[in-house]
Amino acid sequence: MNESQQLRTLAIDIGGSGIKVMVLDLEGNPLSDRQRLKTPHPAKPKDVIETIITLAKPQEFDRVSVGFPGVVQNGLIKTAVNLHSDWLNYDLATSLTQILSKPVKVANDADIQGFGAISGKGVELVLTVGTGFGSALFVEGKLVPNLEMGHHPFRKGETYEEQLGRAALEKDGKKKWNDRLEKAIANLDHLFNYDNLYIGGGETKNIKFDLPPNAKIVSNQNGLLGGIKLWTN
Ligand code: BGC
Repeated sequence: MNESQQLRTLAIDIGGSGIKVMVLDLEGNPLSDRQRLKTPHPAKPKDVIETIITLAKPQEFDRVSVGFPGVVQNGLIKTAVNLHSDWLNYDLATSLTQILSKPVKVANDADIQGFGAISGKGVELVLTVGTGFGSALFVEGKLVPNLEMGHHPFRKGETYEEQLGRAALEKDGKKKWNDRLEKAIANLDHLFNYDNLYIGGGETKNIKFDLPPNAKIVSNQNGLLGGIKLWTN
């Protein structure tokens, strides 16, 4: 094995309820178990970064990929609806580069989940159902960054995230949540006419209806595995 094949990437997935890490090899295969700690509350930059430091400390790595649950542009956080308003305009890439003394790339969490899930052919849409409602769009493997479908109107004067986020699932129950998700998928198919839809996120375990043939559930682990693509795309 040459030196470059030994390059280790620490993949970090910052979620509304958990922060997960895993070390990946150059092909994106896991070199460590997945480790998880609860997202601190309030989830201000300082608290989240402390949790990341705790998770990163026992790991050996050369560079870092971070999935963040909001709009990310050039390492800068532009939205963080489910974390804390202190994140707005926070330069997470620069700050973590200084703290961890390694190169760091940051992208939207659903975009990274998508990189881990897609085939790279045709139009592919990725949705994530967890604390929030994530979305990512790819054309021939090329990402359209920060799609943010979650905050668009869906039905009854509410957004996709208001109807399908974890708070709605807990408040309105699994039956309504499933009915809504089925409607959302039909809507989005009409909008994007995608070849394939991938659905990830912690709440996929609650999906009880038969998905259309062009849709499938993917492992939430893609939110970490896809991190390798930030260095190749
Ligand atoms: C954020 C998205 C994110 C999604 C899933 C939404 O609230 O706006 O950027 O991908 O939650 O975490």
